[in-house]
Amino acid sequence: MSIERVSALHHFDARLTVPGDKSISHRALIFGALSEGETRIEGLLNSADVTSTWQCLSQMGVQIQRQGTEVCVQGVGLAGLQAPSSPLDCGNSGTTLRLLMGMLAGQKFSSVLSGDASLSQRPMKRVAQPLSEMGAVIELRAQNYPPVKISPAQLQGIDYALPIASAQLKTSLLLAGLWAEGPVRLQGEIGSRDHTERLLPHFGVNLKTKEGTILLEPKQSLKAAHLRVPGDPSTAAFWLAAAAMIPGGRVEISGVSLNPTRLGFVQVLQRMGAVIAEEITAETPEPLGILRLQQVPLQATRVYAHEIPDLVDEVPLIAILATQAQGRTEVRGAGELRVKESDRLSALAQNLTAMGVKLELFEDGFAIEGPQALFGAKIDPHHDHRIAMAFAIAGLVAEGETEIQNPECVGISYPEFFDILRQLQEGEMKPCAF
Ligand code: S3P
Repeated sequence: MSIERVSALHHFDARLTVPGDKSISHRALIFGALSEGETRIEGLLNSADVTSTWQCLSQMGVQIQRQGTEVCVQGVGLAGLQAPSSPLDCGNSGTTLRLLMGMLAGQKFSSVLSGDASLSQRPMKRVAQPLSEMGAVIELRAQNYPPVKISPAQLQGIDYALPIASAQLKTSLLLAGLWAEGPVRLQGEIGSRDHTERLLPHFGVNLKTKEGTILLEPKQSLKAAHLRVPGDPSTAAFWLAAAAMIPGGRVEISGVSLNPTRLGFVQVLQRMGAVIAEEITAETPEPLGILRLQQVPLQATRVYAHEIPDLVDEVPLIAILATQAQGRTEVRGAGELRVKESDRLSALAQNLTAMGVKLELFEDGFAIEGPQALFGAKIDPHHDHRIAMAFAIAGLVAEGETEIQNPECVGISYPEFFDILRQLQEGEMKPCAF
């Protein structure tokens, strides 16, 4: 078993950039593939999850090539996807599988979507059920899990109230709507990350979003576009958390997405006392810019259910921050974490306990009374990239050495993570300019 060792860091002053946003990267490849013409993407994330989407599209005849710092997608249009000759392997990527379910539901050919051991345990009925209402013919293992078998179908429109705030579900239904005979009207929990709502119009699609409704009219086509993928705020969050916990910590992250639907974690950090300034420098059509953080002693906070969609991937970091904050931090309404790449709530409880932390675990969250000392321990990330990275950050404020087991899972979203961590530990990063 491979291991990364992390020891305490007493000084954090760094100016850095982070790789492209994972959610936007998947969408850029898929929308580019479905467009007429050549789409050029700058800053596409180079990670295992995005490679899964890339390879699945290639299996359906889409040509995608790296050209210097850009990725070029030769769009095949809505009628141009070819039947894949073997199952489409989505690896560890829930976004790939759920988005492609929508894309494939209305095709004239059959397909099978599969994934690794973790993805094979993740719920797909939430997507299959409304797609079936549109007329899709989908079979799931044990009525909920991959592999997903999709048969040819002619889709109808749908008027659907989303029961969960999932951007993957929302995007899957909008993708299916591109082949439907009637409109797709979404209501209910539509307040999750809005990259699809921003990007489809960038590819020429007329999407109406107002008064709690998203409306996609039928019979539309996508036109190739040029796109710059901003840095991933969920990746930036690791360095924000580290700087927020180390006395005197400062960090400046440029080129990062400042999309409000992704900034819930920044708001929680601000509530805990951290001084954070945001500066928008461009709209691509995603707002992007600079985040600057200065450490101050942290105070506990309460995170409510309605805030979870805007920080769903950052909850593990909130647990780490809670151990260093004064008072009781409580996070509730986060039951979705149980069906991510691992059961993140139980992975958090297991590994925080290993580091000497006392916490209360709920079905939908946790409470931690801080501050509590962290002690270096053996961390089992359960092959979950965000758990591995969150506990590496915990290791920076722990006494003794922290061992992250099977650390290669960070390649799912941030292959360079441990290289950057090493540079920080060796004092090789540029200090902040502010
Ligand atoms: C994503 C949506 C979120 C998020 C995931 C990426 C997306 O998942 O956790 O990392 O790109 O749409 P859910 O839709 O399951 O909330």
